[in-house]
Amino acid sequence: MGEVMTASTDKRSVTSLVRTGVEPAAGYRPGTADHSHHPSARLDMNESPFGLSPKAQAVLDAYTDGNRYPDFLQAPLREALSAYTDVPAERIIPGAGLDDVFETLALLLIEPGDEVIICEPTFGVYRSLMTMHGAVIVNVPLTPKPDFRLDVDAILAAITEKTKLIMLCQPNNPTGTLMPREDIERIVTGAPSVIVGIDEAYAEFAQTSHIDLANAHENVVIFRTLSKFAGLAGYRVGYGIFPDALVPYLNRVAPPFFNISAISSEIAIASLNDLDVLNERLNVLLAERAQLSANLGEIEGVTVYPSATNFILADLPVATSEPLLKELAERHVYVRRFGIPEHDLTQALRISIGSPEDNRLFLETFTELLEHHRVSH
Ligand SMILES: Cc1ncc(COP(=O)(O)O)c(C=O)c1O
Repeated sequence: MGEVMTASTDKRSVTSLVRTGVEPAAGYRPGTADHSHHPSARLDMNESPFGLSPKAQAVLDAYTDGNRYPDFLQAPLREALSAYTDVPAERIIPGAGLDDVFETLALLLIEPGDEVIICEPTFGVYRSLMTMHGAVIVNVPLTPKPDFRLDVDAILAAITEKTKLIMLCQPNNPTGTLMPREDIERIVTGAPSVIVGIDEAYAEFAQTSHIDLANAHENVVIFRTLSKFAGLAGYRVGYGIFPDALVPYLNRVAPPFFNISAISSEIAIASLNDLDVLNERLNVLLAERAQLSANLGEIEGVTVYPSATNFILADLPVATSEPLLKELAERHVYVRRFGIPEHDLTQALRISIGSPEDNRLFLETFTELLEHHRVSH
């Protein structure tokens, strides 16, 4: 009482104010990738190699309304997505990329201690984002390679009273696997009081969808993005298809304007009006995927896993793919690897399907460098 405390004992450190569950992380990724180099191949982020479609480019060129807020409810965008998916616009909750829609999902569902089932190796954001919201991650690994299947019985057995969400990635990143539909259906019907999130970021490349499951079952949410097949990764437009019952709650938790800028929204709408062009490009990428898979498969010791996406996962006859990844990057060819030992992908690389020139550059460089690292059995 009445004691004068010194500044040093009085003051809380600012870091003590940070929410429980938020771990410090390195915010700056050293920019080793020199994308300005010619030639270079950016095959590490599963992006589209194509620029805007003609209609979208025309919208961008003519745009003058940046001083105005977007439509508050993003009604025109949601109508365009509704026409594309054949789902009522009210059930479509967009966001600034799927990562942002996952954030809305977490705000809707997750309280500290809630359990989220994921099946690794899969898209890393599920674990990091849900953990940040206090969720306990329950990992039910995929069956070992080469199958990478969902262990449906183990998933259903892992459900407890605390389970709020099962996140499935269909087709899966980074394995490229399209899971059998009956496995997804068994999870949906076997877990009626858990939300089953189906991430269909790559659905267009798989030429299949589970939107009908979301129409038939109240516990299914589908996640889609325009980043991949529509080539709008930089504009950040994704969306979730939710059950009617959750819509009023989403109207509460979704951010103003759904975090989508007016120009991104206009470009997304224009792209969806240019589906013929997008489908032509999709066919180019599917043909390139088949070609690159065949070419890689011909190299001795390389195992190419079947892909229903715009990337290929390949296991290599090397002790570890780390030096190869580095040497490819030194030659301005960028691909991804996954270093977590339990995921058993440390000898693999994931290669996004780029333009024919990108893929050729990758294949030439890779074929040459692989010989320096090959382990003979
Ligand atoms: C499976 C999966 N889901 C979601 C995303 C994120 O997509 P967006 O660009 O819409 O945030 C990605 C991006 O790589 C992905 O691979």
